[in-house]
Amino acid sequence: MGPDRYTDAGGSLNSMADVKITVKPNGPYRVEGVVKLVDAEGREWDLTGKPAFSLCRCGGSTNKPFCDGTHSKLGFQAAEAAVRKEEAAQGQAPPPNPVTKM
Ligand code: FES
Repeated sequence: MGPDRYTDAGGSLNSMADVKITVKPNGPYRVEGVVKLVDAEGREWDLTGKPAFSLCRCGGSTNKPFCDGTHSKLGFQAAEAAVRKEEAAQGQAPPPNPVTKM
C-alpha cells in the first residue's frame, strides 16, 4: 500500500483522492472525506458520524483544532487576501495563482 492509500478504523481501503480540503475565503479549512485527525501526541479525535468538519486557521477558536466561527467575529483575513490587499494598495499586480492541478 503506497502513502496515498490507507485503511480506516473499519478496515476499508481509502485513498487521498477520497479527501477534499477547501480553503474557505478568510475562514477555516473545510475537510470532507474519511481522514484520521491526531494531536501532537498521536491521540485521535473521534470523527464518527462527521463526514466533514472545519479546521481553524485564524487561531481564535475556543474549540481548536475545529473552527467555531470566531474568525467572523475577529474579522480574520487570510494571509493571501491580506497580501493581495497590500499589493493592490501599492499598485502592484497580483502574483500568478500558485495553485496547480495534480
Ligand atoms: S477559522 Fe473559524 S474560528 Fe478560526
